[in-house]
Amino acid sequence: MESILFTPGKLGPLELRNRSIRSAAFEGMCPGNRVSTDLINYHTSVAAGGIGMTTVAYASVSQSGLSFDHQLWLRKKEVPSLRVLTNAVHREGAAAGIQIGHCGLMAKKALSGGVCLAPTGGFNLYGPTFPRTITKEEIRAIIRDFGMAVNNAREAGFDAVEVHAGHGYLINQFLSPYTNKRTDRYGGSFENRCRFMTEVIREVMAAARNNMTVVVKMNLRDGFRGGMEIEEAIEVAKILQSEGVHGLVLSGGFVSKAPMYVMRGSMPVNVMAHYMHETWMKPGVRLFGKILMKPEPFREVYFLEDAMKVREAVTLPLIYVGGLVSLENINKVHNSGFEFIQLGRALICDPSFITKLRSGIVTRSECNHANYCIAVMYSGKMACYQQEQNVPAKWVRQFETNS
Ligand SMILES: Cc1cc2nc3c(=O)[nH]c(=O)nc-3n(C[C@H](O)[C@H](O)[C@H](O)COP(=O)(O)O)c2cc1C
Ligand code: SF4
Repeated sequence: MESILFTPGKLGPLELRNRSIRSAAFEGMCPGNRVSTDLINYHTSVAAGGIGMTTVAYASVSQSGLSFDHQLWLRKKEVPSLRVLTNAVHREGAAAGIQIGHCGLMAKKALSGGVCLAPTGGFNLYGPTFPRTITKEEIRAIIRDFGMAVNNAREAGFDAVEVHAGHGYLINQFLSPYTNKRTDRYGGSFENRCRFMTEVIREVMAAARNNMTVVVKMNLRDGFRGGMEIEEAIEVAKILQSEGVHGLVLSGGFVSKAPMYVMRGSMPVNVMAHYMHETWMKPGVRLFGKILMKPEPFREVYFLEDAMKVREAVTLPLIYVGGLVSLENINKVHNSGFEFIQLGRALICDPSFITKLRSGIVTRSECNHANYCIAVMYSGKMACYQQEQNVPAKWVRQFETNS
């Protein structure tokens, strides 16, 4: 019997040729916050590799939401080059999605117009940054920016937007009791902590009208004591369903507090320090990296248990992400009631993974969750050590011993 993976599926107004989506995984291919040929070629290669939909990662809706030099800023002037990207993806038979978000307290002031905004100001050790408390006027402006980003995405030919409400970025910073200590209508009770997200989603849904798919990537848990837990996440999922979004991507983790909860495994901090542009931060990363980026044990389909709790509580399409490397587990996820799956590292390792699964050439990915791709991400590139030339032999030994 053919795997559900290879059957078409409807996600909002969009029909995908199969149930696979390339998860938003930062490409680092937008120097000057602009689209590059590398970004276009990379997503074209993923589309040619058989994916149902590819997702351009982590595009900021506003200047104040930028945290990386090589991160896309989804402005009007990027529309023509993004149009080249979506046309190329469509020609390969895949759909094109784009993740939109705002990084809040992770902003890099040199890029973000000198501001770093958070639901509640204070020190962010991981940045390291000193964000200030965002005002109500700034909240309204960012909500409008989300709507404008959707309009730009439509004009550029995208079929879907994925709103980033997880991983400790701005929407998640409002949701989480750890980062939201406000006493106005945007903080305090659960209802108040959800208000910013709800207002963003209403703006996004209005801009998407009835002809663009809207999915939301949200946390099942923030991944540390004092953060959002599964009970509240289930309520968040119910709110998003009642707002009419077309699907939820269920993830977890918090970049400023529990980054490895997102991807599991350990961060090769020596590699990360080696590639960092900020030389003054290298010794700190070597010394304290393992404490700040605490390793989390990797097991396949590590979010499935919590994701099942959401599956039982809502009826809208759910997209499973996290630790999928084999056809066996992809089938298990589909048979557990998840309509779509997302793949991150399996596609960084091999953009043709889906085609190879389909033709039976492989049944599992070669990815061994060594997380070199995450360590180099901070230097503004996306690469798998298995494909890169000139990776030092001692690093290769390290990755293959740890896996
Ligand atoms: C190099 C890299 C960059 C990532 N960047 C993002 C990102 O920009 N936005 C996001 O929501 N998730 C990001 N992620 C997380 C992935 O989308 C995905 O949720 C996670 O890797 C788990 O899926 P996997 O086990 O299939 O890799 C990134 C992951 C990797 C490995
Ligand atoms: S660098 Fe490691 S974790 Fe990343 S895709 Fe390659 S094998 Fe997988």
